[in-house]
Amino acid sequence: MRIFSGIQPTGRKHLGNYIGAIRQYVEGQDRGDPAIFCIVDLHAITVAYDPAELRERVYDTTAILLAAGLDPERCILFRQGDVMEHAELCWLLSSVTAIGELNRMHQFRDKSAAQRELVSAGLLFYPELMAADVLAYRAQEVPVGEDQREHLELMRDVARRFNARFAPEGQEILVVPEQRTPEVGARIMDLQEPTRKMSTTGGTPEGTVYVLDEPKAIEKKFKRAVTDSGNEIVKSPDKPGVSNLIDILAAARDITPAVVEEEMRSARGYGDLKVAAADAVVELLAPVRERYEALRGDEDALEESLARGAEKARELSAPVLADVRDAMGVGPRR
Ligand code: TYM
Repeated sequence: MRIFSGIQPTGRKHLGNYIGAIRQYVEGQDRGDPAIFCIVDLHAITVAYDPAELRERVYDTTAILLAAGLDPERCILFRQGDVMEHAELCWLLSSVTAIGELNRMHQFRDKSAAQRELVSAGLLFYPELMAADVLAYRAQEVPVGEDQREHLELMRDVARRFNARFAPEGQEILVVPEQRTPEVGARIMDLQEPTRKMSTTGGTPEGTVYVLDEPKAIEKKFKRAVTDSGNEIVKSPDKPGVSNLIDILAAARDITPAVVEEEMRSARGYGDLKVAAADAVVELLAPVRERYEALRGDEDALEESLARGAEKARELSAPVLADVRDAMGVGPRR
Protein backbone atom coordinates (compact mmCIF):
# COMPACT_ATOMS: atom_id res chain seq x y z
CA MET A 1 0.00 0.00 0.00
CA ARG A 2 1.57 3.28 -1.05
CA ILE A 3 0.69 6.05 1.40
CA PHE A 4 1.16 9.78 0.89
CA SER A 5 0.29 12.82 2.95
CA GLY A 6 1.33 16.44 3.22
CA ILE A 7 1.45 18.92 6.07
CA GLN A 8 1.95 22.68 6.12
CA PRO A 9 5.12 24.05 7.69
CA THR A 10 4.32 25.77 10.96
CA GLY A 11 5.65 25.48 14.49
CA ARG A 12 2.13 25.69 15.72
CA LYS A 13 0.75 22.32 14.79
CA HIS A 14 -2.29 21.70 16.98
CA LEU A 15 -4.17 18.83 18.56
CA GLY A 16 -6.42 18.53 15.46
CA ASN A 17 -3.37 18.05 13.24
CA TYR A 18 -1.93 15.57 15.70
CA ILE A 19 -5.02 13.38 16.16
CA GLY A 20 -6.48 13.83 12.67
CA ALA A 21 -3.26 13.37 10.75
CA ILE A 22 0.17 13.06 12.41
CA ARG A 23 -0.78 10.03 14.48
CA GLN A 24 -2.05 8.31 11.35
CA TYR A 25 1.27 9.01 9.61
CA VAL A 26 3.16 7.28 12.39
CA GLU A 27 0.81 4.31 12.26
CA GLY A 28 1.05 4.25 8.45
CA GLN A 29 4.80 4.07 8.18
CA ASP A 30 4.88 0.32 8.73
CA ARG A 31 1.91 -0.40 6.45
CA GLY A 32 3.20 1.93 3.79
CA ASP A 33 5.16 0.57 0.85
CA PRO A 34 6.47 3.13 1.20
CA ALA A 35 4.82 5.77 3.36
CA ILE A 36 5.69 9.22 2.02
CA PHE A 37 5.28 12.47 4.01
CA CYS A 38 5.90 15.90 2.65
CA ILE A 39 6.26 19.30 4.28
CA VAL A 40 4.49 21.54 1.83
CA ASP A 41 6.50 24.77 1.64
CA LEU A 42 5.10 25.50 -1.84
CA HIS A 43 1.59 25.49 -0.40
CA ALA A 44 2.66 27.85 2.39
CA ILE A 45 3.58 30.62 -0.07
CA THR A 46 -0.02 30.96 -1.30
CA VAL A 47 -0.81 33.38 1.57
CA ALA A 48 1.20 36.29 3.01
CA TYR A 49 4.42 34.95 4.62
CA ASP A 50 7.99 35.84 5.55
CA PRO A 51 10.70 33.99 3.53
CA ALA A 52 13.22 33.62 6.38
CA GLU A 53 10.51 32.42 8.70
CA LEU A 54 9.25 29.85 6.21
CA ARG A 55 12.56 28.00 6.36
CA GLU A 56 12.44 27.99 10.17
CA ARG A 57 8.90 26.68 10.18
CA VAL A 58 9.90 23.80 7.91
CA TYR A 59 12.48 22.79 10.54
CA ASP A 60 9.88 23.16 13.30
CA THR A 61 7.47 20.87 11.48
CA THR A 62 10.19 18.35 10.60
CA ALA A 63 11.20 18.18 14.27
CA ILE A 64 7.56 17.78 15.38
CA LEU A 65 7.04 14.89 12.96
CA LEU A 66 10.23 13.15 14.04
CA ALA A 67 9.35 13.72 17.70
CA ALA A 68 5.91 12.23 17.08
CA GLY A 69 7.57 9.04 15.87
CA LEU A 70 8.27 9.30 12.14
CA ASP A 71 11.46 7.42 11.40
CA PRO A 72 13.30 8.38 8.19
CA GLU A 73 14.50 4.77 7.96
CA ARG A 74 10.90 3.53 7.78
CA CYS A 75 9.29 6.28 5.71
CA ILE A 76 10.18 9.03 3.25
CA LEU A 77 10.05 12.50 4.81
CA PHE A 78 10.96 15.49 2.65
CA ARG A 79 10.30 19.12 1.72
CA GLN A 80 8.00 19.65 -1.26
CA GLY A 81 10.06 22.43 -2.85
CA ASP A 82 13.08 20.11 -3.12
CA VAL A 83 11.30 17.84 -5.60
CA MET A 84 10.43 19.71 -8.80
CA GLU A 85 8.10 16.99 -10.01
CA HIS A 86 5.35 18.42 -7.76
CA ALA A 87 5.26 21.82 -9.42
CA GLU A 88 5.61 20.34 -12.88
CA LEU A 89 2.79 17.85 -12.43
CA CYS A 90 0.61 20.59 -10.97
CA TRP A 91 0.94 22.50 -14.22
CA LEU A 92 0.38 19.47 -16.40
CA LEU A 93 -2.76 18.49 -14.46
CA SER A 94 -4.20 21.97 -14.89
CA SER A 95 -5.05 20.91 -18.44
CA VAL A 96 -7.69 18.52 -17.10
CA THR A 97 -9.04 20.78 -14.33
CA ALA A 98 -11.82 23.33 -14.73
CA ILE A 99 -11.42 26.79 -13.20
CA GLY A 100 -14.98 26.45 -11.88
CA GLU A 101 -14.02 23.44 -9.78
CA LEU A 102 -11.15 25.27 -8.13
CA ASN A 103 -13.26 28.35 -7.63
CA ARG A 104 -15.96 26.38 -5.82
CA MET A 105 -13.64 24.82 -3.21
CA HIS A 106 -14.77 25.84 0.27
CA GLN A 107 -11.25 26.34 1.57
CA PHE A 108 -10.47 28.64 -1.34
CA ARG A 109 -13.61 30.65 -0.62
CA ASP A 110 -12.77 30.94 3.10
CA LYS A 111 -9.09 31.67 2.65
CA SER A 112 -9.57 34.19 -0.13
CA ALA A 113 -12.14 36.06 1.95
CA ALA A 114 -9.56 36.27 4.77
CA GLN A 115 -6.80 37.85 2.63
CA ARG A 116 -6.27 41.54 3.24
CA GLU A 117 -4.10 42.49 0.29
CA LEU A 118 -3.72 39.88 -2.38
CA VAL A 119 -5.74 36.81 -3.27
CA SER A 120 -2.94 35.01 -5.08
CA ALA A 121 -3.47 32.75 -8.08
CA GLY A 122 -1.54 30.21 -6.00
CA LEU A 123 -4.41 30.08 -3.51
CA LEU A 124 -6.77 29.06 -6.32
CA PHE A 125 -4.23 26.45 -7.42
CA TYR A 126 -3.68 25.05 -3.92
CA PRO A 127 -5.83 21.93 -4.51
CA GLU A 128 -4.19 21.34 -7.89
CA LEU A 129 -0.77 21.20 -6.24
CA MET A 130 -2.20 18.84 -3.62
CA ALA A 131 -3.44 16.58 -6.40
CA ALA A 132 0.03 16.65 -7.95
CA ASP A 133 1.64 15.81 -4.58
CA VAL A 134 -0.29 12.58 -4.30
CA LEU A 135 -0.62 11.57 -7.95
CA ALA A 136 3.13 11.98 -8.60
CA TYR A 137 3.69 8.90 -6.42
CA ARG A 138 0.70 6.82 -7.57
CA ALA A 139 -0.24 6.76 -3.89
CA GLN A 140 -3.26 4.63 -3.00
CA GLU A 141 -4.05 6.00 0.43
CA VAL A 142 -4.03 9.54 1.81
CA PRO A 143 -4.30 9.96 5.60
CA VAL A 144 -5.91 13.35 6.36
CA GLY A 145 -8.50 14.98 8.60
CA GLU A 146 -12.11 15.41 7.56
CA ASP A 147 -11.54 19.00 6.37
CA GLN A 148 -9.60 17.72 3.34
CA ARG A 149 -12.52 15.72 1.88
CA GLU A 150 -13.29 18.21 -0.89
CA HIS A 151 -9.63 18.40 -1.92
CA LEU A 152 -9.42 14.61 -2.00
CA GLU A 153 -12.50 14.39 -4.21
CA LEU A 154 -11.02 16.88 -6.64
CA MET A 155 -7.78 14.90 -6.72
CA ARG A 156 -9.69 11.72 -7.53
CA ASP A 157 -11.63 13.46 -10.31
CA VAL A 158 -8.44 14.86 -11.78
CA ALA A 159 -6.79 11.42 -11.81
CA ARG A 160 -9.83 9.83 -13.46
CA ARG A 161 -10.09 12.57 -16.04
CA PHE A 162 -6.38 12.38 -16.81
CA ASN A 163 -6.62 8.62 -17.38
CA ALA A 164 -9.72 8.98 -19.53
CA ARG A 165 -8.07 11.64 -21.67
CA PHE A 166 -4.50 10.32 -21.95
CA ALA A 167 -4.22 6.64 -20.95
CA PRO A 168 -4.77 3.85 -23.49
CA GLU A 169 -8.28 2.33 -23.26
CA GLY A 170 -8.74 0.36 -20.02
CA GLN A 171 -5.38 1.40 -18.54
CA GLU A 172 -4.36 3.77 -15.77
CA ILE A 173 -1.41 6.14 -15.82
CA LEU A 174 -2.38 7.79 -12.55
CA VAL A 175 -3.81 5.99 -9.53
CA VAL A 176 -7.12 7.20 -8.03
CA PRO A 177 -6.29 7.50 -4.30
CA GLU A 178 -8.50 6.75 -1.30
CA GLN A 179 -8.92 9.09 1.66
CA ARG A 180 -8.22 7.70 5.14
CA THR A 181 -9.57 9.53 8.18
CA PRO A 182 -9.54 8.29 11.77
CA GLU A 183 -12.83 6.97 13.18
CA VAL A 184 -12.61 9.29 16.18
CA GLY A 185 -11.02 12.72 15.95
CA ALA A 186 -11.28 13.34 12.20
CA ARG A 187 -12.54 16.81 13.05
CA ILE A 188 -11.36 18.20 16.37
CA MET A 189 -13.22 21.39 17.26
CA ASP A 190 -12.03 24.63 18.87
CA LEU A 191 -12.41 24.44 22.67
CA GLN A 192 -13.88 27.95 22.84
CA GLU A 193 -16.05 27.72 19.75
CA PRO A 194 -16.90 24.04 19.38
CA THR A 195 -18.89 24.56 16.21
CA ARG A 196 -15.67 25.60 14.42
CA LYS A 197 -12.77 23.26 13.70
CA MET A 198 -9.56 23.71 15.63
CA SER A 199 -7.28 25.65 13.29
CA THR A 200 -4.09 27.70 13.30
CA THR A 201 -5.60 30.56 11.38
CA GLY A 202 -9.36 30.49 11.94
CA GLY A 203 -9.66 29.43 15.59
CA THR A 204 -9.40 31.20 18.94
CA PRO A 205 -6.00 31.25 20.74
CA GLU A 206 -7.47 29.92 24.01
CA GLY A 207 -9.45 27.25 22.20
CA THR A 208 -6.47 25.86 20.26
CA VAL A 209 -4.20 23.31 21.94
CA TYR A 210 -0.75 23.21 20.38
CA VAL A 211 1.41 20.10 20.21
CA LEU A 212 4.21 22.09 21.85
CA ASP A 213 2.08 23.62 24.64
CA GLU A 214 3.36 23.11 28.20
CA PRO A 215 1.16 20.84 30.36
CA LYS A 216 0.05 23.87 32.40
CA ALA A 217 -1.18 25.66 29.29
CA ILE A 218 -3.03 22.56 28.13
CA GLU A 219 -4.75 22.18 31.51
CA LYS A 220 -5.79 25.81 31.47
CA LYS A 221 -7.29 25.60 27.98
CA PHE A 222 -9.32 22.52 28.90
CA LYS A 223 -10.46 24.01 32.17
CA ARG A 224 -11.86 27.00 30.27
CA ALA A 225 -13.38 24.92 27.48
CA VAL A 226 -16.92 25.94 26.57
CA THR A 227 -19.47 23.25 27.43
CA ASP A 228 -23.21 23.11 27.02
CA SER A 229 -26.30 23.39 29.16
CA GLY A 230 -27.36 20.36 31.20
CA ASN A 231 -24.95 17.98 32.89
CA GLU A 232 -25.22 14.72 30.99
CA ILE A 233 -21.95 13.47 29.51
CA VAL A 234 -23.13 12.08 26.18
CA LYS A 235 -22.41 12.86 22.56
CA SER A 236 -25.24 14.71 20.86
CA PRO A 237 -25.60 17.28 18.08
CA ASP A 238 -27.01 19.84 20.50
CA LYS A 239 -23.95 19.43 22.77
CA PRO A 240 -21.03 20.37 20.51
CA GLY A 241 -18.69 21.30 23.38
CA VAL A 242 -19.24 18.11 25.37
CA SER A 243 -19.16 15.96 22.22
CA ASN A 244 -15.80 17.45 21.27
CA LEU A 245 -14.34 16.78 24.73
CA ILE A 246 -15.60 13.18 24.60
CA ASP A 247 -14.02 12.71 21.17
CA ILE A 248 -10.72 14.24 22.28
CA LEU A 249 -10.57 12.05 25.38
CA ALA A 250 -11.47 8.94 23.36
CA ALA A 251 -8.92 9.69 20.64
CA ALA A 252 -6.15 10.54 23.10
CA ARG A 253 -6.67 7.29 25.00
CA ASP A 254 -7.45 5.24 21.92
CA ILE A 255 -10.85 4.10 23.17
CA THR A 256 -14.34 4.65 21.74
CA PRO A 257 -16.60 7.59 22.68
CA ALA A 258 -19.08 5.00 24.04
CA VAL A 259 -16.47 3.79 26.55
CA VAL A 260 -15.84 7.39 27.62
CA GLU A 261 -19.58 7.94 28.16
CA GLU A 262 -19.73 4.77 30.22
CA GLU A 263 -16.71 5.70 32.33
CA MET A 264 -18.06 9.20 32.89
CA ARG A 265 -21.43 8.01 34.14
CA SER A 266 -20.35 8.50 37.74
CA ALA A 267 -18.74 11.90 37.07
CA ARG A 268 -19.91 14.87 39.10
CA GLY A 269 -20.25 17.14 36.10
CA TYR A 270 -18.49 18.61 33.10
CA GLY A 271 -15.52 19.57 35.29
CA ASP A 272 -14.52 15.91 35.60
CA LEU A 273 -14.71 15.45 31.84
CA LYS A 274 -12.46 18.48 31.30
CA VAL A 275 -9.88 17.23 33.79
CA ALA A 276 -9.88 13.75 32.26
CA ALA A 277 -9.49 15.17 28.74
CA ALA A 278 -6.66 17.49 29.84
CA ASP A 279 -4.80 14.63 31.56
CA ALA A 280 -5.11 12.38 28.53
CA VAL A 281 -3.90 15.11 26.17
CA VAL A 282 -0.95 16.01 28.40
CA GLU A 283 0.03 12.34 28.45
CA LEU A 284 -0.30 12.19 24.66
CA LEU A 285 1.67 15.33 23.86
CA ALA A 286 4.28 15.65 26.64
CA PRO A 287 6.65 13.02 25.19
CA VAL A 288 6.46 14.73 21.78
CA ARG A 289 7.33 18.12 23.25
CA GLU A 290 10.23 16.65 25.22
CA ARG A 291 11.77 14.93 22.19
CA TYR A 292 11.15 18.02 20.03
CA GLU A 293 13.59 20.26 21.88
CA ALA A 294 16.64 18.10 21.16
CA LEU A 295 15.68 17.44 17.54
CA ARG A 296 14.94 21.09 16.74
CA GLY A 297 18.34 22.12 18.08
CA ASP A 298 20.24 20.37 15.29
CA GLU A 299 19.26 22.07 12.04
CA ASP A 300 22.06 20.43 10.07
CA ALA A 301 20.73 17.00 10.97
CA LEU A 302 17.18 18.04 10.03
CA GLU A 303 18.40 19.44 6.71
CA GLU A 304 20.35 16.29 5.97
CA SER A 305 17.37 14.11 6.76
CA LEU A 306 15.11 16.17 4.46
CA ALA A 307 17.69 16.04 1.67
CA ARG A 308 17.92 12.25 1.87
CA GLY A 309 14.14 12.05 1.83
CA ALA A 310 13.97 14.28 -1.25
CA GLU A 311 16.37 12.02 -3.10
CA LYS A 312 14.17 8.99 -2.44
CA ALA A 313 11.05 10.97 -3.36
CA ARG A 314 12.59 12.01 -6.68
CA GLU A 315 13.42 8.40 -7.52
CA LEU A 316 9.75 7.53 -7.15
CA SER A 317 8.16 10.55 -8.81
CA ALA A 318 10.50 11.03 -11.79
CA PRO A 319 9.33 7.87 -13.61
CA VAL A 320 5.67 8.84 -13.07
CA LEU A 321 6.36 12.27 -14.54
CA ALA A 322 8.11 10.64 -17.49
CA ASP A 323 4.95 8.58 -18.15
CA VAL A 324 2.73 11.65 -17.82
CA ARG A 325 4.84 13.76 -20.17
CA ASP A 326 5.01 10.94 -22.66
CA ALA A 327 1.25 10.37 -22.62
CA MET A 328 0.61 14.09 -23.01
CA GLY A 329 3.03 14.53 -25.90
CA VAL A 330 5.19 16.95 -23.93
CA GLY A 331 8.94 16.91 -24.70
CA PRO A 332 10.71 14.54 -27.08
CA ARG A 333 9.44 11.04 -27.89
CA ARG A 334 10.76 8.40 -25.44
P1 TYM B 1 -2.41 21.23 7.27
O1 TYM B 1 -1.00 21.34 7.70
O2 TYM B 1 -3.28 22.42 7.32
O3 TYM B 1 -3.12 20.09 8.10
C1 TYM B 1 -2.46 18.88 8.33
C2 TYM B 1 -3.45 17.77 8.59
O4 TYM B 1 -4.21 18.04 9.77
C3 TYM B 1 -5.58 17.79 9.53
N1 TYM B 1 -6.39 18.67 10.38
C4 TYM B 1 -7.30 18.26 11.28
N2 TYM B 1 -7.72 17.03 11.64
C5 TYM B 1 -8.67 16.95 12.61
N3 TYM B 1 -9.20 18.03 13.23
C6 TYM B 1 -8.83 19.28 12.90
N4 TYM B 1 -9.35 20.35 13.52
C7 TYM B 1 -7.83 19.44 11.88
N5 TYM B 1 -7.21 20.52 11.32
C8 TYM B 1 -6.34 20.04 10.42
C9 TYM B 1 -5.76 18.09 8.05
O5 TYM B 1 -6.90 17.44 7.54
C10 TYM B 1 -4.47 17.57 7.47
O6 TYM B 1 -4.57 16.19 7.17
N6 TYM B 1 -3.82 20.78 2.56
C11 TYM B 1 -3.13 19.93 3.55
C12 TYM B 1 -1.65 19.76 3.24
C13 TYM B 1 -1.37 18.96 2.00
C14 TYM B 1 -1.73 17.61 1.72
C15 TYM B 1 -1.19 17.32 0.44
C16 TYM B 1 -2.43 16.64 2.42
C17 TYM B 1 -0.66 19.41 0.91
N7 TYM B 1 -0.55 18.43 -0.02
C18 TYM B 1 -1.36 16.06 -0.14
C19 TYM B 1 -2.62 15.39 1.81
C20 TYM B 1 -2.08 15.11 0.54
C21 TYM B 1 -3.37 20.57 4.92
O7 TYM B 1 -4.44 20.97 5.21
O8 TYM B 1 -2.34 20.63 5.80
